[in-house]
Amino acid sequence: MSKPKILVTRAVFPEIIDRLGEHFEIESNQEDRIFSAEQLAEKARGKDGLFTFPSERISAEIMAANPALKAICNMAVGYNNIDVEAATRAGIMVTNTPDVLNETTADFAWALLMATARRVTESEHWLRAGKWDKWRYDGFLGADVHGSTLGIIGMGRIGQAIARRSIGFGMQVIYYNRSRLDKDREAYANNARYVGKDELLREADHVMLALPYSPQAHHIIGAAELALMKPSATLINIARGGIVDDAALIVALRAHRIAAAGLDVFENEPAFDPAFLSLSNVVLTPHIASASRPTRLAMAACAADNLIAALSGKTPPNLLNPGVLNRGEG
Ligand code: GLV
Repeated sequence: MSKPKILVTRAVFPEIIDRLGEHFEIESNQEDRIFSAEQLAEKARGKDGLFTFPSERISAEIMAANPALKAICNMAVGYNNIDVEAATRAGIMVTNTPDVLNETTADFAWALLMATARRVTESEHWLRAGKWDKWRYDGFLGADVHGSTLGIIGMGRIGQAIARRSIGFGMQVIYYNRSRLDKDREAYANNARYVGKDELLREADHVMLALPYSPQAHHIIGAAELALMKPSATLINIARGGIVDDAALIVALRAHRIAAAGLDVFENEPAFDPAFLSLSNVVLTPHIASASRPTRLAMAACAADNLIAALSGKTPPNLLNPGVLNRGEG
């Protein structure tokens, strides 16, 4: 029997390609070219499954062009790059890679918070530029992290892992989420207190965004929300571009309406707004919150597990659209 055919749309760990090769006939992209939507549709034609990444949009058109497609397995916890509704209509399974990245992503959220509040990259750039001629009592004064109030918007598994880490810093945690956590989860997350979004923005010394992107979450942090924040506050986004209105944030940072921002994700990344580069009160990283070697490997293995299950008639462990399983019945 011939093996199912898959397309791996970007480069991935060679050991994962080897593993996929035991199950599938693979067209891979280890040269890591960025395909246009048309090229992607063309390459996906005749494939049973796609191994995808957050960097490409898997649209209804790509699915429509490929009637054989059975599964799209994304190597990310976020899946806003995939039109899941169209996939469900077309009977295509969609999966993501939850949980394996929670702790690594929470570590990075803290790295960004510390770097932003304590001006680590800004002062390093200044030092590297040869400007350090004397110590000053007021050199690079920042905000304290310990003892402060951390406001977390999006208290899922990653948000809770971030909150948990704040115990060691003696912080108070407030959070805003679609629904309130149960008491045990709140206790786990450093006794986090559920508040409204505006209250969180007014009270928090550091605002952390850890929610998934959805049309409802588009620009939930814009000019009005930034205006509610303390002038001494920092904003950290490790979630997704589009949750923050980047143009409004640039205006707020330039006017020092808030103290600083730490951003791992951007609107239209990697072609983010170059105005960020002219600001010293922002820490910029290239979407690397989950980028430890063990975690990225675990994410790739998880996506591979999902694809192998999906194309061998099993329910993949991280199926996002279980509605596809009932199609054709009744
Ligand atoms: C990365 O951004 C992910 O969603 O896993």
